[in-house]
Amino acid sequence: MSEEAVTIGWKAPSNIALIKYWGKRANQIPENGSLSITLANSTTTTFLTFNKKEKEDQLISVEYYFHGERQLQFEKKTDLLLNQLSSEIGFLKNYNLIFKSENNFPHSTGIASSASSMAALALCLVSMEEIITHNKLNRDDFFCRASTIARLGSGSASRSVFGGLVSWGLIPSLEQSADEYATPFIIHSTSRLNTIRDIILIVSAKEKSVSSTMGHSLMNHHPYKEGRKAQANENMVKIIEGIRKDNYQAIAEISENEALSLHALLMTSGSDGLLLKPNTIKIIEEIKYFRKTSGLDLFFTIDAGPNIHLIYYDDQRKQVLAFVESTLSQYCEGGKWIDDHIGNGPEQLSPALRN
Ligand code: PMV
Repeated sequence: MSEEAVTIGWKAPSNIALIKYWGKRANQIPENGSLSITLANSTTTTFLTFNKKEKEDQLISVEYYFHGERQLQFEKKTDLLLNQLSSEIGFLKNYNLIFKSENNFPHSTGIASSASSMAALALCLVSMEEIITHNKLNRDDFFCRASTIARLGSGSASRSVFGGLVSWGLIPSLEQSADEYATPFIIHSTSRLNTIRDIILIVSAKEKSVSSTMGHSLMNHHPYKEGRKAQANENMVKIIEGIRKDNYQAIAEISENEALSLHALLMTSGSDGLLLKPNTIKIIEEIKYFRKTSGLDLFFTIDAGPNIHLIYYDDQRKQVLAFVESTLSQYCEGGKWIDDHIGNGPEQLSPALRN
């Protein structure tokens, strides 16, 4: 690498959707709007080092390292994304690009890292673009552009470039919403949702049998496709109202309905879509029983896998942690669970902090 090599670094968080994105059209346009909580502790840190090629050619030159080792699967995904972007970002072919990335959540926890890693990668690319073009974007434009690029890599990654609650996909009652990029869902500073927390109960750390790419494509001819779109739109309207009124009951009911609907769609997708495990069901039953007997405000959601996200508020942390230790951890693989909470979004590590 020549002396003029420049390095950019971003740390981006994972997110968990309450309203699930499931099914997409060409160019990663979602079939329905989604809404997620950006996490704080589960993050990917990515450094991009670039230098000008000595001889120009028409090929993207990219290497991708994960925890110090060349990761060919992600390198291929990155190469595809960069090729897709190269007609718009002409200079990409003129540089050697090396990505070095690490996740801070433990390996083999079954947590999908595509949201945080694609978000970190997109943020690095937009920072690179600013440097090469000498065109510094204002804050909103910067993150909007990063979200657009992240979306092309992985739909849910579009939401990981913002903190707090984030929506993605055109939602008629949300003025700023869009299919091409995510936008922060602003809540009142006194809202209880500012204190929301997530305990990720690891039922199985194995890689899932249906990739989300495959799952989205199976929605194209799914018999419930139109019904799902209508349901997601209706749930979105209801959860927005619930969030605005800080109505825990509504938020909990809709989130659980979304999680189970996602799995109902998966199970009826005609492939190997039964991703829930016996311990997933046991945990759901325990959560319901504990909620009824304790009167605490907590609910679950599930991603496209067997692990449960237990969502609750900070003022009930002590009781919830005791419940997890005494009752739920026995259903987790190796007793493993991850302690996380709503976060502020990505952070620039190098060359300078973006405020
Ligand atoms: O971003 P993708 O293509 O991995 O799809 C993610 C889909 C879900 O995680 C199941 C739901 C969501 O909205 O995050």
